[in-house]
Amino acid sequence: MAPASRLQVHLILIFMSALNGETRYLEVREAAEDGEFLHINPDLKRELSGGQLYRRSLRCVDMLSIEGQFTFIAQQPALHCAVFFIGDPEDLITIEYDFVNIDCHGGDFLKVFDGWILKGEKFPSSFDHPLATSERYTDFCEDVDRKRIYRSSQNVAMIFFRVHEPGNGFTITVGKTTNLFPCNVISQTPNGRFTMVIPHQHRNCSFSIIYPVVIKISDVTLGHLSDLQLKKYTPIGCNGVGDFVELLGGAGLDPSKMFPLADLCYSFHGPARMKIGCDNAVVRMVSSGKFINRVTFEYNQLDRRDDLEENEQGNSVEDVCFPKD
Ligand SMILES: *[C@@H]1O[C@H](CO)[C@@H](O)[C@H](O)[C@H]1NC(C)=O
Repeated sequence: MAPASRLQVHLILIFMSALNGETRYLEVREAAEDGEFLHINPDLKRELSGGQLYRRSLRCVDMLSIEGQFTFIAQQPALHCAVFFIGDPEDLITIEYDFVNIDCHGGDFLKVFDGWILKGEKFPSSFDHPLATSERYTDFCEDVDRKRIYRSSQNVAMIFFRVHEPGNGFTITVGKTTNLFPCNVISQTPNGRFTMVIPHQHRNCSFSIIYPVVIKISDVTLGHLSDLQLKKYTPIGCNGVGDFVELLGGAGLDPSKMFPLADLCYSFHGPARMKIGCDNAVVRMVSSGKFINRVTFEYNQLDRRDDLEENEQGNSVEDVCFPKD
């Protein structure tokens, strides 16, 4: 299969499971084990860099990781549709309505959501997003000033829509702008490296990896004394005071509903390694705004075979998500 069509197969799996709620969305990674998940094929990249606007039609359930102009035309009543957008960590997504022909009075809608929602769980969580949940939705039908361009607060966004009448639909242009300090991020890939910086801001940031991974934290600067404290979670943890980094694991998308696995309250250099055998792993930083906080980490998809050979070397908390049977 060509990379492009393989990508589509993976994406369709995500959408179907997201909408059905039967299979866990994360099962898509099984189909994407070859690491092709959300990769853009090189021909397409060349085409894009040639300045040509990429155009294609949208399916009722779809996912996009590229810029371009996208059109949805209902072939039959399309009642539960959602399109997920994802960019690189430092991208913000822009969505512009070029043309909308839907029947707002007849029950159609077209909403942008600032983030992703899957099975009732949202990313970023309401503890990490600058806007209240209701402000993260914008419905074309209810928007009085009909703002034409939306910009997401992180590298993911989505639209929900319902179009009853065949032949009706809309055209949007999706673009990207650069975010100098990426805060909340969903990683497109199971392997990578990232430095999260919160410069004197009172906010929380979550970096989410929707694969079981080994995370290697190499540097933490929290504006405190230098010391290493990597410990298993206790209810007291970092006492919930001051600035800290936490590792979370779980099966859903919302970091506020995941298990806290470890807290890091002090600055340190040198790697601390942790296996997180959950479907989803998050590195989260809570910041008071008093300091310039920074954490650097590397992540690699967890290979179950490695696990068996390697035993309990280093810090491992995989039992939390894969109980022994
Ligand atoms: C950051 O998250 C904590 C919970 O972990 C919450 O109590 C706090 O209000 C959040 N801070 C901001 C600025 O949203």
